Amino acid sequence: MTKDRRLIVGITGSSGVILGIRLLQTLQDSQVETHLVVSPAARLTIQQETRWKIDDVLALADVNYNYRDLGARIASGSFTTQGMVVIPCSIKTLSAVANSLAGDLLTRSADVTLKEGRPLLLVVREAPFHRGHIRLMDVAAAAGAVIFPPVPAFYTHPPSVDALINNMVGRVLARLGIENSLYQQWQGIPPAGPPPAESGSIDSLPARIPAELLSLPVISLATVGADGAPHAASVYFVAGAENGAHYLYFFSSLDSQHGRDLAANPAAALTLSPLVEGWREIYGLQMRGEAQPVPAGPQWEHAFQLYLARFPFAANLKQELARNTLYVFTPRWLRLVDNWRGFGFKEEWTQA
Ligand SMILES: Cc1cc2nc3c(=O)[nH]c(=O)nc-3n(C[C@H](O)[C@H](O)[C@H](O)COP(=O)(O)O)c2cc1C
Repeated sequence: MTKDRRLIVGITGSSGVILGIRLLQTLQDSQVETHLVVSPAARLTIQQETRWKIDDVLALADVNYNYRDLGARIASGSFTTQGMVVIPCSIKTLSAVANSLAGDLLTRSADVTLKEGRPLLLVVREAPFHRGHIRLMDVAAAAGAVIFPPVPAFYTHPPSVDALINNMVGRVLARLGIENSLYQQWQGIPPAGPPPAESGSIDSLPARIPAELLSLPVISLATVGADGAPHAASVYFVAGAENGAHYLYFFSSLDSQHGRDLAANPAAALTLSPLVEGWREIYGLQMRGEAQPVPAGPQWEHAFQLYLARFPFAANLKQELARNTLYVFTPRWLRLVDNWRGFGFKEEWTQA
């Protein structure tokens, strides 16, 4: 893919380094060329907070720079970029940016970005803020920086921490004018009123099912082997709809235990539910149906595009995915469990 825009990305040592990593992952298969500077403190935080190896993080960027290399291209305004994002941004780095204390490549690039009038987003992560922090943010904002703390958007009903991370990173990219599928634009509060009438069929998935359940990343898939032995596996999935009917798609190897089970017997069951701490918050779906390989063709292409939109990292795994098989799960029966509507609340639908 030809990359026609450049973005400088700084990762500093504040909490939330996974935000910077997710941003780099997202831009890997995009038209944006990433120029990365990682502070020494960020290396420590990456080690503390994630299971990422620093070399693997660096490999996500198109170009890497040494934090001390003040002679690098991005230290000059003559190197044109679309802007810079510091994600996450520590208070120390905020302070350096606010005061033009450009003693390293990260803060020098940030200062250059400001002086050239290009967008600079500072994803400042600290809590609580004292007045000195607030003053620094004010100074940086007055110089043109956008202060963009990683504040969760709860109105999206994020079903997982991963969903929160995606939403935050998606919003940051959008603020930089970089389109992405990590977050959905707010469509307004849906009009109040009784839920639409349902036929009891699952040809169109019941409207009462919380949409965020189908945006969860992983299902637990249960299969039965030719010898009758039960088996369960977690698999990434994406939900799709065609001609009003709903399907779940996932990639698996034909050689996996569940792949072998499905070859012998396509009947499968699955659950999907967010991880919650208290019984009052329990809600989720159980389904029974069949899972079968999708042959090459328009349905495969459609499902793969859905998968890529849901999991941008998959763009870099094309070879691995090509060695795997795309399955479609067709639900025949489903049950919604929703303790928000009362302890033990269940509602079931069967295909007509
Ligand atoms: C696990 C961990 C979490 C941290 N979280 C924060 C934070 O949320 N905000 C912050 O300003 N500093 C935080 N720090 C401290 C910074 O890493 C420290 O101030 C460092 O000097 C920042 O340097 P840098 O801006 O050059 O990366 C954290 C440090 C560690 C080890």
